[in-house]
Amino acid sequence: MDVSPSLQPSRAATRLRAATETLHRRVEASLDIMPRLADPALRPALIRRYAAFHIPADASLAPHLEGVPGLDFRGRSRAPLLGRFVGGRPLPAFPVPASRAEALGMLYVLEGSTLGGRELAKRLDHLFGPGTIAGRRFFSGRAADTGRAWRAFLDRLERAEIDAATSAEVIAAAQETFAAFEQWVEDWEGADAQRQGLARRADDDRERL
Ligand code: HEM
Repeated sequence: MDVSPSLQPSRAATRLRAATETLHRRVEASLDIMPRLADPALRPALIRRYAAFHIPADASLAPHLEGVPGLDFRGRSRAPLLGRFVGGRPLPAFPVPASRAEALGMLYVLEGSTLGGRELAKRLDHLFGPGTIAGRRFFSGRAADTGRAWRAFLDRLERAEIDAATSAEVIAAAQETFAAFEQWVEDWEGADAQRQGLARRADDDRERL
């Protein structure tokens, strides 16, 4: 049977999926995202965490990926949807990719997360009403276009012709991106507590002066 190349699973993506599926399962299992997303009292803090991940991530990848033909890096970015949730707070630094190939490995994780986001957005119908995007725009990703955009990304990844030596770096970059996500989003309470602890210690020091 004649199968068009765009319908075949991308080899780079197959390797990336195999190398990150344990990390994906861990994030998915421990995120406990629905209660946080569905509760208006908890949602703002969660969205701030997403902002603290996606805004620095896109800024870090942009120098490597903005000029890549056929990728539409700017059009893919969901960071503009999150800017208003930051409120002037300093954002953590995202790892800096050493090459375009590493940046593509990182973008694999960011783009893949639109697939999960779409599933999560569907589960919020009871809050926002079926068929609406307002209120869950970030998680809706590209709505009905999400699958097409993902396949277009995989095609572009394949055309990057990443050789065996570079492949290890791409995989490490994707794994590092999952680790960054875990640190800033999943551990949001822990990280906040740690920051508050540091702030308290700084206050104590000032009082002692
Ligand atoms: C509770 C949260 C999540 C759920 C329920 C979820 C669910 C899913 C689902 C159902 C898919 C496959 C979609 C399809 O094949 O059409 C998927 C793929 C993917 N997700 Fe998630 N996800 C979640 C969180 C995340 C996060 C936080 C990240 C990254 C930071 C992520 C990265 C990916 C990637 C890279 C893929 C593509 C895997 C592949 O190569 O096929 N996901 N996710």
